[in-house]
Amino acid sequence: MNNGTRPLQFPEGFLWGVGTSAYQVEGDSINTQWYEFENGGRIKTGDRSGKAADWWKNAEQDFDIAQSMGLNSLRLSVSWARIEPEEGVFNPEAIERYRQMLAALIERNIRPMVCLHHFSHPVWFEKKGAFLSKSCVEDFGRFVKFTVTELYDLCSDWITFNEPNVYALEGYLEGDHPPAKAGHPLLYFKALGNMGRCHAAAYYTIHKLQHDAMVSFTNHFIIFTEIKNHMFDRLAARIASDSFNNVFINMITGKKVPLLNNLLGNCEHVRDTWDFVGVNIYGGADVSFDITKPGMAFVRRIEPKGKPTGDLDPGGKAMFGEIYPQGIAIVVDKLAKHDKPFFILENGVPDREDKLRPWVIAKAARTMYDLIQKGYDVIGYHHWTLVDNFEWALGYSMKFGLVEMDPVTQQRKPRPSASFYSEIAKANALTPAMVKKYLPEALDEIFPEDKDQK
Ligand code: BGC
Repeated sequence: MNNGTRPLQFPEGFLWGVGTSAYQVEGDSINTQWYEFENGGRIKTGDRSGKAADWWKNAEQDFDIAQSMGLNSLRLSVSWARIEPEEGVFNPEAIERYRQMLAALIERNIRPMVCLHHFSHPVWFEKKGAFLSKSCVEDFGRFVKFTVTELYDLCSDWITFNEPNVYALEGYLEGDHPPAKAGHPLLYFKALGNMGRCHAAAYYTIHKLQHDAMVSFTNHFIIFTEIKNHMFDRLAARIASDSFNNVFINMITGKKVPLLNNLLGNCEHVRDTWDFVGVNIYGGADVSFDITKPGMAFVRRIEPKGKPTGDLDPGGKAMFGEIYPQGIAIVVDKLAKHDKPFFILENGVPDREDKLRPWVIAKAARTMYDLIQKGYDVIGYHHWTLVDNFEWALGYSMKFGLVEMDPVTQQRKPRPSASFYSEIAKANALTPAMVKKYLPEALDEIFPEDKDQK
């Protein structure tokens, strides 16, 4: 019998937060390439982002929720298109609104983290070719310098890019995000190489302005596993990891991968431009080698059967394969040799009914606790996300929020997971009593050490 007595206590100052992004929550994000994409009818559900979660007008209502949950950290992104709506022309009102938001977080004892690029950017930048253009380092750099100069008295944690690997994958291989070019591996690598150089330049600019800043990017990791222990399937898992998980990381750590490095261009300058490792992780995928898929580097992803997936997307697919919070341990263990702290910056599940989310939260917490016990430096966790929001090309169909949000009425209703996560954040611990309350069926899985105690 599991009596459940021992809490998993986290180190003092551990950061419990949520991740969000400008386009997904602010509303009326005109002037961005995503707005044009929506208006071109490219959202699979036909939705429009519209008011989103209304943050441009009233982010504070959700900051109140975050505060009442006891969260002490929150990542938002700033919209480049609002700050520099025309090339070289900055909008002081946009900066003023972001200053209000950051101040509102600080007032609520929530430490802000600002991401400078989360998938969306100005139409003028897209027209120039975005991160394929020759001037991208200069353009992104001008925006970063201006923005950080205006905000650094209110924030010291910066993310240059959210998931450059997803941005490039969706834009140039899968074609589900702007500029919607499917099957262009050369453009995929070119964009990543340029984003690496943009990131490095931004890293140095920010440190010049603010010596004690914590600057990094956040990478999306998928745990790829060969479907069979067979040479070719193992190769497929390796290719998938090298070409998706590792490209940006390799630029930063200076690891050279033959062939891939030639596609990325000169990355010497990019080396060691991170103060922590930002980890976004949702799922794992079994893969096999498939000779009929040269456009996807011969990698076939297998749909997970009988595994936890969360809600399927409107096309009947599991967006993230198997939901795999325990993969946090694989990523941390692999990258620990670089001697940087880890910040888990996205982890979650699309789950309208909140069936799987409590398990995701508990499993992530258990995994991080075990890592910390083993001596790994994990400093925080951001659940994705606070309130349901605009899920890019899938519109409002996928519900990632701890809090349910109706985009029409703007009404909020916390899901049980919000209370569960709040209890963890307030106690800075995961306890057996919490798991008993929110997830009784997983008590032995989450607290195996208590299992046989009477
Ligand atoms: C992105 C978020 C997105 C989430 C869920 C991440 O890849 O950074 O913007 O909403 O996944 O799909």
